[in-house]
Amino acid sequence: MSEPAASAASPALAPPRVRCFSGIQPSGAPHIGNDLGAIRNYVALQDRFESIYCIVDFHALTTTHDAETLRRRTREMATALLALGLDPARCTLFVQSHRPEVAELMWLFLTVTPVSWLERTPTYKEKRENQPEDVNHGLLTYPALMAADIVLYKASVVPVGRDQAAHLELSREIVRAFNNRYGPTFPEPQAVYTQAPVVLGTDGVRKMSKSIGNTIEIFAPADEIRRQVMSMVTDTQRIKRTDPGRPEICNVCQLHRFFGDDYEEIWDGERTARTGCVDTKKLLVERILRHYGPARERYAELLASPVIVDRILEEGAARLRPIVDATMAEVREKMGLR
Ligand code: TYM
Repeated sequence: MSEPAASAASPALAPPRVRCFSGIQPSGAPHIGNDLGAIRNYVALQDRFESIYCIVDFHALTTTHDAETLRRRTREMATALLALGLDPARCTLFVQSHRPEVAELMWLFLTVTPVSWLERTPTYKEKRENQPEDVNHGLLTYPALMAADIVLYKASVVPVGRDQAAHLELSREIVRAFNNRYGPTFPEPQAVYTQAPVVLGTDGVRKMSKSIGNTIEIFAPADEIRRQVMSMVTDTQRIKRTDPGRPEICNVCQLHRFFGDDYEEIWDGERTARTGCVDTKKLLVERILRHYGPARERYAELLASPVIVDRILEEGAARLRPIVDATMAEVREKMGLR
């Protein structure tokens, strides 16, 4: 994990703490790819940086078009993040649309962003193919909204999975273009990765993703998690139970690395064919349920108290107001809007 150093100056002279920002779409149930690739880092970084985490409902509107579904998923995602360890006393958690100034900043950023930069974004090209009936403009301008998300708070540390690397690179370019035209204003965002920057899905080939439907969900009923894990594709060359397995390319074995210290033993069992794929999957189900047990309990409790979650989100958005006002005043001034 590489990241900018936090300041160690004495409190009286200390510059403002380095800010960390990340966002997650409320576009479905959180899965272990989200956790291993990003959320674990949100939790770890909340004490190292001034951390701000956001449920990006504006972004989700590019694919989710039903109001009730979006509202429900937004609250569920907030509940999930709290259950997984985000602590409102140590970080700020809020909903993107509750600080709508981000849409203004995105517009301003679009005026320094060549269309060709947006058109070459890999996720835009993918979405254009995957949902040809709905190539809305939000899909194209999606990375400019991400850039605005991050630097509205002048954040520079951005914990994400590797699938966001191209977006982050484009955010940096947009910020650079703004700074070049209007003078130094924003820090350039830096991606920070976990030990699992790309988690593969149950198909063992593509990244785990809600839109592909190859996920292992964190908060699904235990039977559903069992079904998802037992459906995982393993080493396709291991045909007979007595064939030796290849843990390096088996996704089930790879996931064991993150759910116990004894994964080398598990790998050894596979290599020597002492254990079969089914045994290794059953063990993974157990480990996942054990690992997420406390979070699953907290999730159920919090889901039953939506008022608590809503209050945390409201307070989060309110707390950010002074930062947002200061950034927008500076930007409007520099661009000749005041
Ligand atoms: P989203 O909602 O698709 O995913 C949330 C986070 O989970 C990570 N992730 C993964 N990491 C490893 N392996 C996987 N299979 C996997 N699947 C998802 C993602 O990389 C991400 O970090 N565009 C963003 C949301 C966003 C944002 C931002 C992020 C909006 N504004 C500003 C950072 C900064 C997205 O759709 O993430």
